[in-house]
Amino acid sequence: MANVTVIGAQWGDEGKGKIVDWLASRADAVVRFQGGHNAGHTLVVGEQVYKLSLLPSGIVTGTLSIIGNGVVLDPWHLKSEVEKLRGQGVEINSDNFAIADNCPLILPVHRELDGLREAAAGAGKIGTTGRGIGPAYEDKVGRRALRVCDLAHLDSMEPQLDRLCAHHDALRAGFGQPPIDREALLNELREIAPFVLQFAEPVWRRLNKVKKAGARILFEGAQGVLLDVDHGTYPFVTSSNTVSGTAASGSGLGPSATGFVLGIVKAYTTRVGSGPFPTELEDETGQRLGERGHEFGTVTGRKRRCGWFDAVLTRQSCAISGVTGIALTKLDVLDGFEKVKICTGYRLRGKVMDYYPSHAADQAAVEPIYEEMDGWQGTTAGARSWADLPAQAIKYIQRVQELIETPVALVSTSPEREDTILVRDPFAD
Ligand code: IMP
Repeated sequence: MANVTVIGAQWGDEGKGKIVDWLASRADAVVRFQGGHNAGHTLVVGEQVYKLSLLPSGIVTGTLSIIGNGVVLDPWHLKSEVEKLRGQGVEINSDNFAIADNCPLILPVHRELDGLREAAAGAGKIGTTGRGIGPAYEDKVGRRALRVCDLAHLDSMEPQLDRLCAHHDALRAGFGQPPIDREALLNELREIAPFVLQFAEPVWRRLNKVKKAGARILFEGAQGVLLDVDHGTYPFVTSSNTVSGTAASGSGLGPSATGFVLGIVKAYTTRVGSGPFPTELEDETGQRLGERGHEFGTVTGRKRRCGWFDAVLTRQSCAISGVTGIALTKLDVLDGFEKVKICTGYRLRGKVMDYYPSHAADQAAVEPIYEEMDGWQGTTAGARSWADLPAQAIKYIQRVQELIETPVALVSTSPEREDTILVRDPFAD
């Protein structure tokens, strides 16, 4: 049975929520495998709007939803998101929801450090979501993280706390902060532990079991390939690997399980936070894209930076992540533009380039080379077949897939589940 891995192929906010929700309604299990509650997925089902940042999107449809070991988990945020969804009538219990017991925890000290570092960085700040994601991943790799399974052993935590505090107290002193209050931290953890532990288990076992039973598994990526800690616009990236391969390591299933890799691609480009953005438009056109696309962050409410579609970056993301097919989203935002532009190459100090360089100074210096196309006057919003699209919009889609060297599998034409043109069913492969 085919599985599907969904990843963002730009800087996040490509409209993954709707696509994942649509696929989740046909999956037997949905797995988050990286990131944390820095993600923001908005699902619109009928009259109801659900805003998720940590829970897998399958939770809304009652599909088995799993938080894999590759995620960093804020237990207090978990509780508030679960309670909010339950308030909207969503059923969440240990039958339909599980958390990897080897997931590292995001602690209050991580959130504080995220904020202190950003404030001290001045112009060099990353523009993080301020949720402690980076510091929590650092502690995981530094082998001093507290993990979900530790919540069941809070009375014998001295060695772990010694390691954690030795590191953080020195850092905190540098920022003029008092040492960690170990007793207060333990008390907070004791209070939240039962809530988290009711869902905790070695999820690799459950996943392998459902896989053997022929389940269709949907891996739900967060952020986008250009924010990947290795392949993205370093250092202006998130702290996890956002590429498709992480679906295997971040869940406990081998690489052969990842299946069809569906890259979500917005018909133009946006970015939140700092960092290079070759096709950014700081003019009326950029403003128009932002207004028409409602480009405000789901998590932080920050205004997103907007620009033309960058085929060079997207081609690179698709190659790096082994994208099988793309879902093109938010095409309707381009409705009514007299001309639309696509970036097809860069000029770097007089030299033409067909890929995005690795060095930060080069990434900031490249100038986009554009191809201009006629826009379309009719609307693409709500289209459910090619016949519903203006001819010029079809030309735009065809040009996009040609330039990124990856076929279109789906076109999403509104936030509604049903407003989708299906070219190739990812689950059928
Ligand atoms: P962090 O993940 O909070 O450390 O933030 C690092 C960078 O990733 C910042 O530029 C954030 O704006 C960006 N980022 C993190 N999560 C998302 C997301 O879900 N969508 C878009 N950008 C994100």
